[in-house]
Amino acid sequence: MQQETVIVLDFGGQYNQLIARRVRECNVYCEIYSYKTDLAKIKEKNPKGIIFTGGPNSVYLPDAAACDPEIYSWGVPILGICYGSQLMMHQLGGKVDRAPEREYGKTEVMVNTESKLFEGVSPKTICWMSHNDYIAQPAPGFAISAHTANCPVAAVENPEKGLYAVQFHPEVLHTQEGTKMLHNFVYNVCGCKGDWRMDSFVERTVASLKEKIGDGKVLCALSGGVDSSVLAALLAKAIGKQLTCVFVDHGLLRKDEKEQVCQVFGPGNGNFDINFICVDARERYYAKLAGVTEPERKRKIIGEEFIRVFEEQAKMIGAVDYLAQGTIYPDVVESGLGGESTVIKSHHNVGGLPDTVDFKELVEPLRDLFKDEVRQVGREVGLPEYLVNRQPFPGPGLAIRIIGEVTAEKVKIVQEADAIWREEIAAAGLDKEISQYYAALTNVHSVGVMGDERTYDYAVALRAVTTIDFMTAESYDMPWSVLGKVTSRIVNEVKHVNRVFYDCTGKPPATIELE
Ligand code: XMP
Repeated sequence: MQQETVIVLDFGGQYNQLIARRVRECNVYCEIYSYKTDLAKIKEKNPKGIIFTGGPNSVYLPDAAACDPEIYSWGVPILGICYGSQLMMHQLGGKVDRAPEREYGKTEVMVNTESKLFEGVSPKTICWMSHNDYIAQPAPGFAISAHTANCPVAAVENPEKGLYAVQFHPEVLHTQEGTKMLHNFVYNVCGCKGDWRMDSFVERTVASLKEKIGDGKVLCALSGGVDSSVLAALLAKAIGKQLTCVFVDHGLLRKDEKEQVCQVFGPGNGNFDINFICVDARERYYAKLAGVTEPERKRKIIGEEFIRVFEEQAKMIGAVDYLAQGTIYPDVVESGLGGESTVIKSHHNVGGLPDTVDFKELVEPLRDLFKDEVRQVGREVGLPEYLVNRQPFPGPGLAIRIIGEVTAEKVKIVQEADAIWREEIAAAGLDKEISQYYAALTNVHSVGVMGDERTYDYAVALRAVTTIDFMTAESYDMPWSVLGKVTSRIVNEVKHVNRVFYDCTGKPPATIELE
């Protein structure tokens, strides 16, 4: 039986992935394609519905992004969002113009609750607006189903044809009843039943991995991050001992991280019955990094050294049939492949896999999943919360959170400070609210006083940011009580630290990591 699919047709809007995630949260599978994709190819996917995204252009400009107008008469329901709504009106004979007044931000919208799209939505509801153009006149056959004080046409529809368009963004959380609207579109308009569920995903994927791999051998680089942990767990469930996982301790991990990974995947721990190799490469890395201060050089050394260590292990294991990769859907979308190609992405967490490792084929069972879904799969296959909920951790590890030269002593300091920071953020109940947080070691030495003694010690920098996509981020408005407590614990409990800074900078102009 074919899986119900909704297609997001991307016109260059900043929320394309968010729309697909929201649809999947409604238990309907959703894929993203560029607006340039041939209609014939879209038709092959046999979608239940299509959603047009927003986009940066004006529909009436000569080079504006557009799709094949035949899409409107095909009979598959379409929801146009922002630019997508204007495009639909423009292509079907309505009028789009520069709005007399730009609308931006949370806006009260009056909706017609008789519409299938707005069923169960409050007649006055707060929506997120961001547009310079507006629909001056709906296309023939369309009725206005929502308006605002400044915008006479905030939504239009032609229910007989299954065509709907909204000027606002139902996918962003600022649109208070946006999820309900998307739910209404996929269920009321497209007639979906909701067959996209992670428990059935696990069942299906384990079965198909078994079939594909047969009695073959699989090699997997385990970084301890969410994606590679879930990947390993899924494979373990499917093929057990035919799987070998290599975990490299490069000495740049967070406190207790190695122990946690070994506890879940290591031999004799009862969770997974696989071949697990933990390589202690700490000294090798420290030796290579000695005296190196330039951030990019540090990254490069760590990436190259990983390849060497991994190659050595692969040689000892001998020829394998498959190499497992933790590619996930955003990697596929961001590489511009629209879910079609099999290009090997350079593995973020390990800085590129060796092309000299001998294998026949790649297995990438997570390539259709968003991060939230990967986490759900992790829970389904019995991974502990501390692995499933792990925040992003860069491949070069603590090396890019230690400004300047990396030494074992500095790693220890940053591990201890970071553990305190994480503990206190969790204790304050803020861990779900903040996207990424960590402690770093600056290369500042400053004068302090401890008891009656003068000290000349390190300054630790604390970072905590919120972000949707990690491309931009805001520094978290951290309560002083948390900062005060953490500062006092760090200077008391971590040797050689006498000063603590909180990084208030957003991205841009800063980046999330310090190097
Ligand atoms: P920046 O510092 O670029 O970080 O604002 C954005 C996100 O990417 C992570 N990051 C990395 N991840 N290898 C990785 O696997 C890297 O070299 C790397 N650099 C940054 C960072 O933790 C944040 O989540």
